[in-house]
Amino acid sequence: MIEPTLSSPIGVFDSGLGGLTVVRSLLEDLPQESLIYLGDTARVPYGTKSREAIFRFAEEGSAFLLGKGIKLMVLACNTMSATALPELAARLGVPVVGVIDPGVEEAIRVSTGGRIGVIGTAATIGSQAYRRSIQARKPEWLVFSQACPLFVPLVEEGWEETEVAAMTARHYLAPLLAQGIDTLVLGCTHYPLLLPTLRRVVGSDIRIVDSATQTSREVKNLLARTVPENPGPASPMRCYLTDIPPSFIGVADRFLGRPVTHVERASLTP
Ligand code: DGL
Repeated sequence: MIEPTLSSPIGVFDSGLGGLTVVRSLLEDLPQESLIYLGDTARVPYGTKSREAIFRFAEEGSAFLLGKGIKLMVLACNTMSATALPELAARLGVPVVGVIDPGVEEAIRVSTGGRIGVIGTAATIGSQAYRRSIQARKPEWLVFSQACPLFVPLVEEGWEETEVAAMTARHYLAPLLAQGIDTLVLGCTHYPLLLPTLRRVVGSDIRIVDSATQTSREVKNLLARTVPENPGPASPMRCYLTDIPPSFIGVADRFLGRPVTHVERASLTP
């Protein structure tokens, strides 16, 4: 492991390109920090995989980023944060920020009635990580969870504002709406792109929490408390992908909201 310094980069790790929604917020909140992004595009999606596979992928990706001398790792993927965060945080030797607790803290701040809906991949919802994190802080609050496996392919296809997306959202959200949720947590990197469609389906009274934005605020707070901020200027973000599929450019640019440059292929296994 390379010893990190103030100007060392922050590593952002996701199963694919969806973590670029977290990068987008980090670039706004911490423009002076250098970022290295790792997307395991060869093995995405993680959300349909077993706990053992997700854990192994998380370890391999973290080792890759540590080898690049990062000073802090953002586990931008909800599925990995739900499955592997405590174990990784205990053994990496650099601070690790996941996406679940920042989203939960915001949900607790904005909820009006303690009835929280959580949507995510099958692995995230199956792990119960959101429910545990909310009820550790608010034991009497009710958490209603729903896996939405079709949302990731819909977003990757660029269909997030179509009638198909709206129908799918109505189907997934009906049980949560029937429970009278007052807050909906978007527990997946891809879901911020569905925000306009989800807003139309849930109406204007339900609070929607996007964990990508909250995570970048948490990183900023953590840097202020522990690892000092880079005095800047930032180097351009390096983007490592385990596969560079032909569709990459269009999808990546939509997640990041600007063109992704400096892309290199990464190999995570020896
Ligand atoms: N990054 C994943 C998450 O936030 C979504 C894509 C996947 O299933 O790998 O849960």
